Amino acid sequence: MSDNALLKPIKIGPYELPNRVFMAPMTRNRADNPENAPTSLHVEYYMQRASAGLIITEGSQVSKQAVGYINTPGIHSRAQVEGWKQVTKAVHDKGGHIFIQIWHCGRISHPDFHNGRLPVAPSAINPHDRSYTPQGFKETVTPHALTIDEIHAITRDFKNAAENAVTAGFDGVEIHSANGYLFHQFFTNCSNTRQDEYGGSHENKARFFFETLDAVGKAIDFGKVGIRLNPSAHGFFGITIDSDTIPTFEYIVERLNDYTGLAYAHLTEPMLPVDDVPYAVTKIAEHFRPRYRGTYVTNCGFNADSGKGVIEQGLADAVSFAKYFISNPDLVERIRRGAPLAEPDVNTYYTPGPKGYIDYPFLE
Ligand SMILES: Cc1cc2nc3c(=O)[nH]c(=O)nc-3n(C[C@H](O)[C@H](O)[C@H](O)COP(=O)(O)O)c2cc1C
Repeated sequence: MSDNALLKPIKIGPYELPNRVFMAPMTRNRADNPENAPTSLHVEYYMQRASAGLIITEGSQVSKQAVGYINTPGIHSRAQVEGWKQVTKAVHDKGGHIFIQIWHCGRISHPDFHNGRLPVAPSAINPHDRSYTPQGFKETVTPHALTIDEIHAITRDFKNAAENAVTAGFDGVEIHSANGYLFHQFFTNCSNTRQDEYGGSHENKARFFFETLDAVGKAIDFGKVGIRLNPSAHGFFGITIDSDTIPTFEYIVERLNDYTGLAYAHLTEPMLPVDDVPYAVTKIAEHFRPRYRGTYVTNCGFNADSGKGVIEQGLADAVSFAKYFISNPDLVERIRRGAPLAEPDVNTYYTPGPKGYIDYPFLE
């Protein structure tokens, strides 16, 4: 067995994973069919990367309302479930493990996706960003503030999506509660000014997230559920940090300790520099790892050396790699051999077709 910390096995939930090199969720916009169902291209793409300790798929909408971008796959219709079945089978046939990231984009969506109806959010606050619609990039709009019944309906959508995921053969789900999407919109004061039990205190701002986590975990087992947080997200999708942001995330992370069987918590280091942002935490793992007793997955900006280092320092149990998994389908083998890593082509991140998707070479 390798003495590289990244290549040591790890148990998450009921699964024995062969290594700690996880594939981070990445939207690739290849579900370009009317059903937004995964295609044979998805099968090939994920199969090529099956040696990851765990694949976490691209964000996949839990309902039609949840969509925020063109050509992203869903996990709410029969055709989508059938498409994903081919993906999970191919990954399992190669000995891999795969979770699906389930998301709701909230106010980052656009009326063009909803026959002119407004996207939804905790409060009617425009993020003043851009939405990637079928007609190209458009300015975001002021969203509809969800009623309490509508919030409960979205929790049910997540539960249904999780059950669909199990039907489709996934080993589990990751709830996308990061990066300025719907749950994150509830966590932060810049997007949540509600006066009811879903706004104000830490407990209230986290209520929708924990209600959904409870519903999903009870439906499919908490060992099959991971969650994702990005506490120092700032300056994109209308998210700004204030004095209560990090305390809210501390509350959430500490409360996650009550979920002893949870598969993992996946926390992202700052995606943009936050050294000059008041109240931001610059080193997320150093701040949050000591607060969480479960399996901690770190992410953002890691390479083979720094990924190994962060585990050796005890700051994470596993590392997820995004960009390097685009351009290195055999990332695990490259780490094992100490081989150079290929750089990805940013121009084909979100374009249709096989180019820049399934054509990155493997080592000889
Ligand atoms: C093309 C692309 C698409 C992404 N889509 C998602 C997504 O669907 N869900 C998510 O949680 N993060 C998404 N991310 C963020 C990545 O998971 C990750 O946090 C980020 O790229 C930093 O990791 P890295 O330095 O290893 O690339 C995306 C990143 C990229 C590059």
